Amino acid sequence: MGNLENHFGDDASLDAKDTKEILDFLLKNSAETSSKQASLKFLNSIGNKDIIAMSQTTYWEKTHKKIDPKLFKHEQIQSKANCKACHSDIEKGLIENENIKNLSDFK
Ligand code: HEC
Repeated sequence: MGNLENHFGDDASLDAKDTKEILDFLLKNSAETSSKQASLKFLNSIGNKDIIAMSQTTYWEKTHKKIDPKLFKHEQIQSKANCKACHSDIEKGLIENENIKNLSDFK
């Protein structure tokens, strides 16, 4: 949030009010402040690695290794970062199997 003018090659700068609102949200909802099991697993698998995406953690790689890598290129998914394409209720923190779409629907 401190260097948004250099955001993956884009200038994503925001005004002070929006910056504060998003930063407050990120701090309030970070894995460090969660008691969810998956948050702890993500945190533990970051260790002291310098990563910028949840999908680069060993925990994520381990839990998704049975998925055909080609599926992440599917037009309705596009990217590993599109968690919601498969985890319908991920914004509520629901990652249980019953909240995962049937992957055979992406054919
Ligand atoms: C292509 C669909 C797909 C995408 C995209 C995807 N996931 Fe998953 N995810 C799955 C499936 C399927 C499983 C269950 C794998 C299994 O049980 O073998 C899973 C498992 C998980 C689990 C473990 C759940 C548990 O109870 O053990 C977590 C946590 C998780 N995903 C988080 C994420 C996050 C965060 C993202 C985005 C950065 C993401 N996933 C992107 C399909 C996906």
